[in-house]
Amino acid sequence: MDKQPLRSRKWFGRTGKDGFIYRAWMKNQGIPSHEFDGRPVIGICNTWSELTPCNAHFRDLAESVKRGVYEAGGFPVEFPVMSLGETLMKPTAMLYRNLVSMDVEESIRANPVDGVVLLCGCDKTTPALVMGACSVDLPTLVISGGPMLTGNYKGKPVGTSDLWRLSEANRSGQLPLDQFESIEASMCRSSGHCAVMGTASSMACMVEALGLSLPQNAAIPAADSRRKVLSHLSGMRIVDMVRQDLKLSKILTRPAFENAMMANAAIGGSTNFVIHLLAIAGRIGVELSLDDFNHVTAGIPLLANLQPSGQFFMEDLYYAGGLPAVLKELAAFLHNDCLTVNGNTIRQNYETSECYNRDVVAPVDKPFNPVAGVVVLKGNLCENGAVIKPSAASTELLQHTGPAVVFENIEDFKARIDDPDLDVTADSVLVLKNVGPKGYPGMPEVGNMAIPGKLLAQGVTDMVRISDGRMSGTAFGTVVLHVAPEAAAGGTLGIIQHGDIITLDVPGCTLHVELTDEEIQRRKAHLQAGDSLVSRGYVRLFQQHVQQAHLGADFDFLRGGSGSEVVRDSH
Ligand code: FES
Ligand code: MG
Repeated sequence: MDKQPLRSRKWFGRTGKDGFIYRAWMKNQGIPSHEFDGRPVIGICNTWSELTPCNAHFRDLAESVKRGVYEAGGFPVEFPVMSLGETLMKPTAMLYRNLVSMDVEESIRANPVDGVVLLCGCDKTTPALVMGACSVDLPTLVISGGPMLTGNYKGKPVGTSDLWRLSEANRSGQLPLDQFESIEASMCRSSGHCAVMGTASSMACMVEALGLSLPQNAAIPAADSRRKVLSHLSGMRIVDMVRQDLKLSKILTRPAFENAMMANAAIGGSTNFVIHLLAIAGRIGVELSLDDFNHVTAGIPLLANLQPSGQFFMEDLYYAGGLPAVLKELAAFLHNDCLTVNGNTIRQNYETSECYNRDVVAPVDKPFNPVAGVVVLKGNLCENGAVIKPSAASTELLQHTGPAVVFENIEDFKARIDDPDLDVTADSVLVLKNVGPKGYPGMPEVGNMAIPGKLLAQGVTDMVRISDGRMSGTAFGTVVLHVAPEAAAGGTLGIIQHGDIITLDVPGCTLHVELTDEEIQRRKAHLQAGDSLVSRGYVRLFQQHVQQAHLGADFDFLRGGSGSEVVRDSH
């Protein structure tokens, strides 16, 4: 028996005028009276949108969830929240992650739901929904939309990571525009999110490694009928989770976060993972800092041979055994007793799994790359940290010293990058300022700056690049990101000048500019403190309250949660 009445009873269990209001209008949807008899009410939080193509199939998934909820004796109610499409939204979907998290949090708390299923897909929808749900802390289960089928162009696989290569080939004249354009339909040929280990796939793996989804959630392709089966089973399971009061905070412990960090390293996951995981930890009240990443993931090798760090696609990962096959290899590292949404430990979820393709998931004693994960850098150029993904970088550039070529903002970069007179060599370090959380605002994915045109013509394919922005999880290169404090918040990045000597030392975890402390202070004193606040609206709120990247770029007033208490009546 339930220990305490479900919160939905404070709506649907009422008599008199209030109960009438809470039930009568719901009945206009054809819902019979017995649905209001005290069975668990399950909210299905949907980010379906035709402007979020990666999530455009979510109405189908929601129907599968509903079937499962009904089968288990629950009452499903689907509700929309703002959706974030990575490819269309300007200036960047990241500007709206925190807004969506507020939408999710308040939508759950204000309504008669006892448990929640989060339908997440394209990059930012996953952290946004998990962050919002954490601040309420009801029983919650995540379903990812699943990756697209691997693209195919003239018999060759093609995915999002190829876009960056193809674009450079087009710029350098090696790939004619008509061919470049005909690849569009070949790459995105089914429903689902990016088919490589970009941010969306990293987030799908994150929720599975945290224990927030059923096993195999990460890799089943969107178009595979087993994605609907997983949704149906998730619908069944959330009803039991409500009956057991299995809340998010019982699953999201510090060890669960460490499991997710180790999994992200082993799969070659996105640098964006760092920012989102820090923000989620802040919501659920788990102490986690940027500095934790280096020691928690120390010794974890790259096991998944997936683009952009490797060769294959998410579809291949599923056929090779999915994330459980990767987790099984990590058994000696993981906190194996962590509880997951199905009531099993993470070990119970992976121990019966098998690897069906060692070209895709390597054994831990014979990894694809001994170097994995996201390395956190410190130094006088990034006092609060910066990150780099060494598995996606060029080995010979991981220790590099060179003169800075500085771009003051993204417009400056675009105006000058292909200038034949640009004073740049392959040894230069490209520095881009003012693309951080406050400076842009929203922290866009422009950190993987294009190589200067004249160097591209010479065959240069990688250079050290540094910014306070992010990069797409599908991208690669020797790219230092998330420099904190950012230029627009008074960080040292803001005073770097053309020709300053910068040293990147990834094995040593440092990023240094050859300037004395006195010179840095002298230059900072001369910086004009410009007030670039916009006059109104959400962007102003964002500029005033967004925290720096090393704190997850969440709003200062959103840390923690307000719980699921039912507040005053509406009439
Ligand atoms: Fe949506 Fe890549 S654009 S996941
Ligand atoms: Mg992205």
